[in-house]
Amino acid sequence: MIEINKQEIDARVKEGIPFTHRWHNRFHLEMPFGLINDPNGLAFHNGEYHIFYQWNPLGCVHKNKSWGHVHTRDFVNYSMPELAMWPTDEHDKDGCYSGCGFVSGGALRVFYTCNAKDENGVRTPAQRLGTLRSNGVIHKEEIAVPTNEKGYTGHFRDPYVFYRHGKRYFILGAQTEDERGCVLAYEETSEGTWKFLGELKTKMSEIDEKFGYMWECPGLLKFGSHDVLLCCPQGLEAKEYKYQNLYQSGYFAGHVSFDSMEMYHGRFQELDKGFDFYAPQVFSHEGRHILIGWMGMPDRDDDYPTKEHGWVFSLTLPRVLTLRQGHIYSKPAKELRALRIQETAVDIDAAETKQVSADLGEGAEVLLDVTMGKAQQLDFEIVYGLEKVVFHYDRRTQVMVIDRDGMKLGGRGQRRFKLYADDNFSLQLFVDHTAVEAFFQHGDETATFFVFPEKNILPEFRLVSDEPMESVSGRVWELDSFRFHETKSS
Ligand code: FRU
Repeated sequence: MIEINKQEIDARVKEGIPFTHRWHNRFHLEMPFGLINDPNGLAFHNGEYHIFYQWNPLGCVHKNKSWGHVHTRDFVNYSMPELAMWPTDEHDKDGCYSGCGFVSGGALRVFYTCNAKDENGVRTPAQRLGTLRSNGVIHKEEIAVPTNEKGYTGHFRDPYVFYRHGKRYFILGAQTEDERGCVLAYEETSEGTWKFLGELKTKMSEIDEKFGYMWECPGLLKFGSHDVLLCCPQGLEAKEYKYQNLYQSGYFAGHVSFDSMEMYHGRFQELDKGFDFYAPQVFSHEGRHILIGWMGMPDRDDDYPTKEHGWVFSLTLPRVLTLRQGHIYSKPAKELRALRIQETAVDIDAAETKQVSADLGEGAEVLLDVTMGKAQQLDFEIVYGLEKVVFHYDRRTQVMVIDRDGMKLGGRGQRRFKLYADDNFSLQLFVDHTAVEAFFQHGDETATFFVFPEKNILPEFRLVSDEPMESVSGRVWELDSFRFHETKSS
């Protein structure tokens, strides 16, 4: 276990912000150095949203997993990022892995997985509680579950706490000994210990069908009387229009009972169709479910050239989730409108045209409504001189293809998915220096990914159709950067 010095790390972060490298993003959370991954511990406490995240402050590899921390009232102004928790003892010597946050007794508490491996690589995963102290450090407390349960391997992690009928529960992601991914549940007893309830039987396990070899980062949300189980299955085979990333992140919508330990649910749906989206978590506050995901993908290191410059990965923008007819819609949180500096629309309000374009500058939001008219094919392009990324929509087949083959550096390839637009196509697009987030058909589908333009060229947005579109209307805003402020303590 390498000694990690919080003061040194915090001082280096402060020196590194604001960022100067042209690949660093302006309105996506990221670190000046090291590797970040899953958002952790999302909780609303004392008037602020607290965002923790997995962070290796010592390099761009998946090691030394610690928790970084920022807090914000408005998702635009943030506290200066600080180290909140790092490996310190035999339980978490190989990483303070992912976990959740919740408010209890007026304190912000966390529940995380301690990762410890022996000399043969065998894991002993312990689930441990902690409390955020006013000095910004998570005080590690008791171990609630010391190791994996019988019948499950050491891939046993990412606890998520929730309340049902006045009782406290948690679920975590696990793998059976015959290598099937699943979710396990625990219930808090009146003595404050945790009773193992077993595996939550989903339709997949009921018919003994294997749906991936491991489920990571589960979450459970309530939308009225409906339950949504979030999880990240690993090991699904890519299909023509789905599961095209190495690992997936999505949900089952239905009804859960912790008495019968069953969930009745519809099909597994992905939360995002882009290249770089994984391990999301959700704040549930005042009736809003606000999701933040990790912009990145495990085990695809060559897709991310910023690691040559000392940092890698980002978090997504916060998105508000709603459930309609068993499907999640995701929209950017309305707080982000405060980033809009100036409307820069050029050539967007047009009728009977085959092309519109706009400059995107250092970072922009594009909001566009297309009445397709005679057009059958639409190409939405983000163009960097001779390089470009294209969203190609074919109205006849109702297929969207995101094509990154026009970029030289970083991850390339295509992602295809079904998107049901008839005569009206709607797009809301956020283009940061390297982070791109697209929301289609008012949040019906989203796609999140990176582009790493080779040359220092500011992008242009273009919409090109095969036949004239009846009308195109929209706006483009130049977006401001997130602001980081020094605060005394949280
Ligand atoms: C998901 C994940 C989690 C784990 C964490 C370690 O990306 O593998 O399952 O807790 O990352 O950083």
